[in-house]
Amino acid sequence: MTVLVTGAAGFIGSNFVLDWLAQSDEPVINLDDLTYAGNLENLASLDGDARHIFVKGSIGDFDLVSKLLAEHQPRAVVNFAAESHVDRSIHGPEDFIQTNIVGTFRLLEAVRAFHGQLEKTAKNEFRFLHVSTDEVYGSLAKDDPAFTETNRYEPNSPYSASKAASDHLVRAYHHTYGLPVLTTNCSNNYGPYHFPEKLIPLVIHNALAGKPLPIYGDGQQIRDWLYVKDHCSAVRRVLEAGQLGETYNVGGWNEKPNLDVVHTLCTILDELSPRADGKPYKEQITYVTDRPGHDRRYAIDATKIERELGWKPAETFETGIKKTVQWYLDNQAWVANVTSGAYQNWVGKQYSA
Ligand code: NAD
Ligand code: TYD
Repeated sequence: MTVLVTGAAGFIGSNFVLDWLAQSDEPVINLDDLTYAGNLENLASLDGDARHIFVKGSIGDFDLVSKLLAEHQPRAVVNFAAESHVDRSIHGPEDFIQTNIVGTFRLLEAVRAFHGQLEKTAKNEFRFLHVSTDEVYGSLAKDDPAFTETNRYEPNSPYSASKAASDHLVRAYHHTYGLPVLTTNCSNNYGPYHFPEKLIPLVIHNALAGKPLPIYGDGQQIRDWLYVKDHCSAVRRVLEAGQLGETYNVGGWNEKPNLDVVHTLCTILDELSPRADGKPYKEQITYVTDRPGHDRRYAIDATKIERELGWKPAETFETGIKKTVQWYLDNQAWVANVTSGAYQNWVGKQYSA
């Protein structure tokens, strides 16, 4: 038995593979194109481990994906590969369209052809799990109920629109071709190996580097935070027991305004790694121009996955965020390599095209 995991050199995918192989000996084929967000250092602890097979390439490469499927005969494909940063999608949406929409389409095509020729038992057991986001549902007002799986799709950024399109393709491949698909829509993740362009790792990094902590607009936008290991356990659970064609919202029941998150990070850093001048890190907070089209609030109602599959997050925000800050303090070399770009040297050496 084998699983093919795409985008597994990124933040969530690498945590997923590390957790998977900590709990099982089932090998993982990791297909990742190593964009700026892909970092094999995340998986350095698996060097020499035959259970992890890394392949550099795109989900949009039909021939490559078809070859990998034929060669390894995976029982499942878990699709994490995506362009994932909203701000980048505002500045340059093209890559988001290519990877999230066209790439997912080509991946689905290759998987459909592979699935079509499997013998009966393998065909019945095969799963395609698509990892998506709560951002496809759009923005909530302060008192709106949290997103359920039946909320209308109302994506507002090029990122969320491209993810919404990919979700629709996955759904259509189930209804039209009978592909055995599962979709998860998760809230904002945080934890180890998070690229420091996203709010939480950026604030930790900038605080320690003595740089400003940028708050977009009034900082009262609300996100629902989930510790990345909890997202990984939800994906494993949906893969194991999810109903074909169903979608599952995954969230941590942790709605927080951005400013509160940043204050919490500053307080933890004041305690674990105080500034040399003894002043609080929150003095570095700076208000900057708001993101265009900024969604005001996301909140996930994770009742369905709990009721039907018995999944619940293990971490509260308080425990998860403390672990996260400690991880960044303990892994300053990783942060330095990411921020200097040194992590990409390996790619340059291996794939000098
Ligand atoms: P990430 O940007 O850290 O990692 C994405 C990975 O995909 C990188 O390793 C990158 O090299 C790879 N990749 C990009 N284009 C590719 C392509 N064409 N072919 C193969 N690999 C490619 O993203 P992440 O935060 O780990 O998110 C993973 C998935 O989870 C995404 O689909 C994202 O939409 C979804 N998601 C993320 C969050 C979050 O808070 N980060 C929340 C909900 C859902
Ligand atoms: P981000 O981590 O980019 O995730 P997403 O946009 O997918 O929710 O941003 C989380 C929130 O933090 C979002 O409301 C934008 C805000 N934000 C800032 O205020 N300052 C920053 O420097 C960044 C990166 C984000």
